[in-house]
Amino acid sequence: MRKITNICCIGAGYVGGPTMAVIALKCPLIRVSIVDINPDRIAAWNTENLPIYEPGLLEIVKEVRGRNLFFSTDIEKGILEAEMIFISVNTPTKTYGVGKGHAADLKYVELCARKIAEVAKSDKIVVEKSTLPVRTAESIKAILSESENDIEFQVLSNPEFLAEGTAVNDLLYPDRVLIGGDQTPEGLTAIEVLASIYSNWISNERILKTNIWSSELSKLTANAFLAQRISSINSLSALCEVTGADIDEVAFAIGSDSRIGNKFLKSSVGFGGSCFQKDILNLVYLCNYFGLPEVAEYWEKVIHINDYQKRRFANNIINALFNTVSGKKIAILGWAFKKDTNDSRESAAIYVADHLLNDQARICVYDPKVQAKIIYSDLDFLNTRPHEINIELLEVETDPYNACRNAHAIAILTEWDEFKNYDWHRIYKNMIKPAFLFDGRNILDLKKVASIGFKLITIGKPL
Ligand code: UDX
Ligand code: UDX
Repeated sequence: MRKITNICCIGAGYVGGPTMAVIALKCPLIRVSIVDINPDRIAAWNTENLPIYEPGLLEIVKEVRGRNLFFSTDIEKGILEAEMIFISVNTPTKTYGVGKGHAADLKYVELCARKIAEVAKSDKIVVEKSTLPVRTAESIKAILSESENDIEFQVLSNPEFLAEGTAVNDLLYPDRVLIGGDQTPEGLTAIEVLASIYSNWISNERILKTNIWSSELSKLTANAFLAQRISSINSLSALCEVTGADIDEVAFAIGSDSRIGNKFLKSSVGFGGSCFQKDILNLVYLCNYFGLPEVAEYWEKVIHINDYQKRRFANNIINALFNTVSGKKIAILGWAFKKDTNDSRESAAIYVADHLLNDQARICVYDPKVQAKIIYSDLDFLNTRPHEINIELLEVETDPYNACRNAHAIAILTEWDEFKNYDWHRIYKNMIKPAFLFDGRNILDLKKVASIGFKLITIGKPL
């Protein structure tokens, strides 16, 4: 079996960066190069100030960078030298044309495949790391087979299951690694070649091998199931608020049933992130495409409930503040889609802020890791109002106490640990009264903050 000594990964993002750093760490004899079209991103990967924040990542990068991990914009050189190429570029939901709003935009993946076909001079194993619709490998193969350089390509699907914020741990100790490939002698060999890389630190029973379509579909399905659990618990949070039940108690009670399990049952202001919504939309598109509208409708509801939850939370703020937030200062604590990441793609905070801005609120945002320019570009991307108005109505603070000063209300939208340890007495003292506190993550000690004097509103607890 071929031993891989040189890997290239196209796409130095939240997936490509940490994944390759861990492969480089665990496989010192393999040279790993990460290439990207974005020179600023590559430059940042070569500094102490990495473009993405992930606990534990900087330490690993510092250990392997320059040893057997390299960051570069020279995509052609990366392709030429590698025996195995990971495609880890983004696959956003299409914003134009056929499948707009649902289908995955595969233009970057296609560009990568075309580049590989054009540049490669020796046999390659091409690994899909980006989440893709089922049967994308077919398209990649079709493009590669047009290469004029008479070489053999094997295409594998190796979806990534890491979650941001815990990426390093998820990569070091994964529940499983999934590798899908053609069930031909050449395909099965390629699967083994990739499996042998992971077996440097992962036991064989955790390395699952399937056909390529099962692998592609398993990734979409895993994310759809996880998102479905959140929408299920969030839908019931609304019922809890009107019946007097407590969603955390309900989650604990049902999670104690080993058949249900206790993970992914934390009620929240809604799930975000670059994957859940995109992958479900993708699944919905596929089901409709293959003539299964009932299945499509079933999964689409997961997104409807998530949208409902974000809207409901924003409306609860407006209702509690005597039906208007016009001219009132609302402090938003947390913009990232979850704690321990600087990623805010599809974060619930964006939609809650947008809803409040529609009601003419003045917003002040504090997040420990998300930069102001990203916050503004997230809002501008929605295109609800001109950039100038977003700048006028929303400010970004680097000090949480200043963010909350003179606010009518505070909304906690990310579960950053530091929020639990704030001096809530001091914050309360400097707010306009009555001082409202909306805990969109149920992270605060309710009794404690209520005793300070806050009017506290949480998710899924009796109002
Ligand atoms: C993720 C996953 O790879 C994908 O599975 C998931 O579905 C969504 O996005 P992620 O790493 O989070 O990707 O995306 P991002 O941080 O945007 O990184 C993608 C990188 O690819 C960017 O740095 C971008 O510059 C680069 N890119 C994109 C290329 O190098 N070439 C291209 O043609 C397009
Ligand atoms: C997800 C999958 O977990 C991962 O396997 C896949 O590779 C990529 O997509 P990620 O989006 O990075 O990972 O984070 P995740 O921890 O799944 O959280 C997604 C969203 O759900 C966040 O907004 C989070 O706050 C929310 N969430 C999660 C809840 O609201 N409640 C929960 O119980 C769990």
